[in-house]
Amino acid sequence: MTTRLLGLCGSLRSNSWNAALLRAAAELAPNGTAFETTDLHDIPLYDQDHDELAGGSSGTPTAVITLRERIAWADGLVISSPEHNWSFSAVIKNALDWCSRPAFASVLQGRPTLLLGASGGPAGTGRAQLHLRQVLLSTRTPVLLDSVQLGNAADCIDASGRLHHQPTRDHLAALLAELALTCGEDRSTAAVGEVSR
Ligand SMILES: Cc1cc2nc3c(=O)[nH]c(=O)nc-3n(C[C@H](O)[C@H](O)[C@H](O)COP(=O)(O)O)c2cc1C
Repeated sequence: MTTRLLGLCGSLRSNSWNAALLRAAAELAPNGTAFETTDLHDIPLYDQDHDELAGGSSGTPTAVITLRERIAWADGLVISSPEHNWSFSAVIKNALDWCSRPAFASVLQGRPTLLLGASGGPAGTGRAQLHLRQVLLSTRTPVLLDSVQLGNAADCIDASGRLHHQPTRDHLAALLAELALTCGEDRSTAAVGEVSR
């Protein structure tokens, strides 16, 4: 059975290093996986009046419905976010807020997730990922303990947007294999009714 992985990019920048990590993830995902990414450009700012899963009655934006459907399609998620002022990007926070309702029964609940991040400085988005882990705890989204935290990204991603740093490629490939394995384990658990999505 194919394991479906969905990438979400926290940067809207055309030459984004974080988008480059997701392209590498698509290349390096193990056999037996389908890796797709979803576009967050059209997701509006969160507005509860427009969130019918949170009591709103003004109509949920089409882009949000599509995003929720894309996440529901996936067995696992790969979130690649830059660090913005020591936290993860507002693009990701906004997308997660839209997808977090109904509370404790949202599409985010129970979906194994891998975190990636690239930054120009040496910190490699470690601080951002700590915040992101906190938010994903609230949505009951299980996050792999290890992650990609790529510092000095300009030395590792070339002008065409390809990740060429071999140790990072190897690390990413290993984590994707772990994610796919975790998704498979969750599916077999779900089969006996212990995991609710
Ligand atoms: C508003 C803003 C805040 C930033 N804050 C941080 C930061 O806290 N830590 C860091 O390492 N880099 C920070 N950066 C630099 C980003 O790592 C850099 O812009 C990176 O290229 C963003 O990822 P992207 O290439 O995927 O767009 C910041 C950049 C911006 C625009």
